[in-house]
Amino acid sequence: MSIPFITAEEAASYIKNGDTVGFSGFTASGTPKVVTVALAKRAKELHEKGEPFKINLFTGASTNDHVDGELARADAINMRTPYQSHKDSRNLANNNGMHYFDVHLSHMSQDLRYGFYGPIDVAVIEVTEMSPNGELILGAGIGMTPTLAQMAKKVIIEYSSYYKTSFRGFHDNYVSLDPPHRREIPIYKPSDRIGSTVVKIDPAKIIGVVPSNASESIKPFTAPDETSQRIGDHISHFLAEELKKGKLPKEFLPIQSGVGNVANAVLYGLGENPEVPVFEMYTEVIQDAVMHLMEEGKCKFASTCALTFSDDAMTHFMENIDFFRDKILMRPGEVSNHPEVVRRLGLIAMNTALEFDIYGNVNSTHVLGTKMMNGIGGSADFSRNAYLSIFSCPSIQKGGKISAIVPMASHIDHSEHSVKILATEQGVADLRGLDPVQRAQTIIENCVHPMYKDLMWDYLKLAQKGGGHTPHNLGAAFAMHQTFQQTGDMAQTDFAKFV
Ligand code: COA
Repeated sequence: MSIPFITAEEAASYIKNGDTVGFSGFTASGTPKVVTVALAKRAKELHEKGEPFKINLFTGASTNDHVDGELARADAINMRTPYQSHKDSRNLANNNGMHYFDVHLSHMSQDLRYGFYGPIDVAVIEVTEMSPNGELILGAGIGMTPTLAQMAKKVIIEYSSYYKTSFRGFHDNYVSLDPPHRREIPIYKPSDRIGSTVVKIDPAKIIGVVPSNASESIKPFTAPDETSQRIGDHISHFLAEELKKGKLPKEFLPIQSGVGNVANAVLYGLGENPEVPVFEMYTEVIQDAVMHLMEEGKCKFASTCALTFSDDAMTHFMENIDFFRDKILMRPGEVSNHPEVVRRLGLIAMNTALEFDIYGNVNSTHVLGTKMMNGIGGSADFSRNAYLSIFSCPSIQKGGKISAIVPMASHIDHSEHSVKILATEQGVADLRGLDPVQRAQTIIENCVHPMYKDLMWDYLKLAQKGGGHTPHNLGAAFAMHQTFQQTGDMAQTDFAKFV
C-alpha cells in the first residue's frame, strides 16, 4: 500500500482534543519537530474560538522547544509524563497548568503496555529511513518508540532529511514480553546486541508522512567552569584510588553519566586522568564529551538511548560516522536504563543532585522542596542498582546564598540506601559502611562549602542533643530553607534559637 505525504497541518488535524499522543525520541534527539508546531498553532486557533484543545503528552524523556515549548505556550497539555526540562513546561507544572507526574524512565514503556495510562491514540515518530512495508530506521534517539509503534492506534511519521548519512545499524530495538512471560534481558556486556535495527509497524496504521529538515537544535555545552572541573577531578581521582585498592576490578566497570554541564565535565575529568583506564559506557544519553573520548581512544564503547550531541558535534559525528559504527548502540529507554542490566553489568553511576542532606538523602527534582525542576529521569534506574552510585553538585548555588548540603533534604528522590558516594568541588564523601552520624561528619568535612561548615556542625550538635539513630531537630531541620525564603540567604540561619 502507498503511504501519502501530508503537510504538518494536515497531520495535526488528525489529533483530537483529549487524545493521548506519544512521541518518539529521548531528549531533543529523535523527537518530532514539525507536527507539534502545527498542533500548537491549531490549539491556539481553537482556544481563540473558545473551543477546548489539550492532549496528554507522553515522551521518552525531555524533548525540545518544538514539543514541550510550543505545546506549553499554547496551553495544549492536559497530562504530561515522564520528564521535561523546558522552562515553559516547568512553569505549567509548577502553576497547576497541566497534570504532570514524574515516572522512572525505565518504567514508562511497560507502564503504557500494562495499560496504566490508557490507550495511545496517536504516535508521532521521527524516522530517517522508511520502507513501504513499515520498516523504520529511527534517528538520534529512541525513547519508547518500539512500544509506541506496537500500541498506537494511528501513527504520523516525520521523515527527517536533516541527516545526510544513514543511522542504519546504530539501533537495537527490543521490547520485552510482559509478566508473567518476561525473561531476562540477555545483555552481558554493553556491546551485546539483542534486538533489531528497524522498528516494524503496521503500514495500515500510518496516517501519512510529513517531511522535516529540522536539526535537534541542541546548543553547544559551555566549557567546564572551575567548579565542574574540580568535581570531575575529585571523582576521577576517587575512582583511580578505588582501582588501586582493588575495590573496582582491574578491567574497570561501565560508566553511566547523567545530563548537564557537570556530567559533561566529570566525563572530561575521567578522560584526562591517566590512571583511569579505557572504559565503556552503559548509559541513557551520550553528550559531546563522549564523542571526543571515543576519538581519543579513552572510551571504547557506549550503549545509550540517544545521541544528545550539540548541532556542531552532530555534524562532526555524521561526517565521521564510519569511525563510530562499531562503538555505539542505541536502545529503547526501557533497556538502556533497565535495573536488571544495570545490576548485572555493575555500573559506576554518576548523576547530579540539586541538594543532599547530611545523612546522604538526595533531592534531584524539587527546588526548596516544592518547585519541580525537570524530573527524576533515569537517575534512580541507575543509582538504586549500580555497583557504585555517585551523586555530585556544586556545594553552593546563587553566589553562596544557597548551600546544596542541608540538614534534611526538602524532597527525596534517592534515599540514603541508594547513595554510596557524594562529591562537590570541595571533595568526596565515601558513605559506605558508615552509620548516620559518621555519614554526617564525613559529608560536612568533605563536601560542605567553608562558608557553611560551622552552620552544619551547629546543626549536627543540636540534633544530637535529642539522641536517636539518625539525629534530627525537627523544628530546625528546614530552618536553612525557611531562612532562604525569608531573607534570600541560607547563611543567615541561626540554630541557637532552637537550642
Ligand atoms: N536550591 C535552589 N536552586 C538550586 C539548587 C538548590 N539546592 N541547586 C541548583 N539550583 C538552581 C541553580 O542555581 C540553577 O538555577 P538557574 O537556572 O537560575 O541558574 C538551576 O537550579 C540548575 O542548576 P545547575 O547546577 O545548572 O544544574 P544542572 O544543569 O547541573 O542540572 C539537575 C542539575 C539536578 C537539575 C539535573 O541533573 C537533573 O534534572 N537531574 C535529574 C534527572 C537526572 O539525574 N537525569 C540523569 C539520569 S541518567
